[in-house]
Amino acid sequence: MNDGDTGVLELEVIALRRESDCVLSVELADPEKRALPGWKPGAHIDLGLPEHIRQYSLVGDPSDRHSYRIAVLREPESSGGSSYVHAQLRPGELVEIGGPRNNFPLAGADRYLMIAGGVGITPLLPMIRELHAQNKDWRLLYGGRSRRSMAYLAELAEYGRRVDVRPFDECGHLDLDSELATPSDNTVVYCCGPEALISAVENHCETWPAGALHVERFSARPRDDEDDLRAFELVLASSGQRFTVPAESSALDVLGAAGIDLPNACRDGVCGSCETRVLAGLPLHRDALADPDRTDIVYPCVSRSRSAELVLDL
Ligand code: FES
Repeated sequence: MNDGDTGVLELEVIALRRESDCVLSVELADPEKRALPGWKPGAHIDLGLPEHIRQYSLVGDPSDRHSYRIAVLREPESSGGSSYVHAQLRPGELVEIGGPRNNFPLAGADRYLMIAGGVGITPLLPMIRELHAQNKDWRLLYGGRSRRSMAYLAELAEYGRRVDVRPFDECGHLDLDSELATPSDNTVVYCCGPEALISAVENHCETWPAGALHVERFSARPRDDEDDLRAFELVLASSGQRFTVPAESSALDVLGAAGIDLPNACRDGVCGSCETRVLAGLPLHRDALADPDRTDIVYPCVSRSRSAELVLDL
């Protein structure tokens, strides 16, 4: 689900804080101190940096309408976004942000198992605060390279035994075999972290009830189908216009070339900004967002069509 997208805002960096040896949090506010658009746990913003737009979960307090807080991992292999934040972004600088947008909303359930890897703790932290305030039954399994690399440990320690901190250098990999061995009715699993962790949790949850697992990726889902992509037809419901999307182009680019510009903050199937309703046809989801069985939406930046034709609500 994609809600709360409010266009682009120019915000000021008002504070930077080190949350671990490799995670820096950034606090943003309106330069005129105006209230910011509201958000719910699981939401993220698009952060505009020189030559990059990156998605970061909101980790602060949703009831604080005057600042947003995000946490940024320093990634040695980064293409520039995270290194810029760590090395150059400073208080007083103005940045453009898009959103907030929520592709990872908190579902109703009896029990919640949260699984975080590294900086994947960020979308889960506001969820945990909300679940705890509502006296819900929840647990967090939190893995990371080492304690020094794991953000927000002091805050999480306040929740006592509900939180299981498992640094790799002390405990090895998270024990998903025992945590997820038995599907549990009315338990939902929320996971965010590196691709290897998300894929492992997805594999372990294959026998769980449909809809029990919720994941959030901030990098593209692995795709190895480039050689098998086929052309398909796009039809715009409002005008009946038809466009052929060749195998080597995205639907987003084909629409853009025809002057139909959709929001496109990531162009990689992770942010949700290009979400478009499908009225007929079967989408082929290559994004990191949609359930593979969903037929009512498509992310035209990377996703395509299983059917010869896809009718869009455009
Ligand atoms: S542009 Fe981000 S999902 Fe399509």
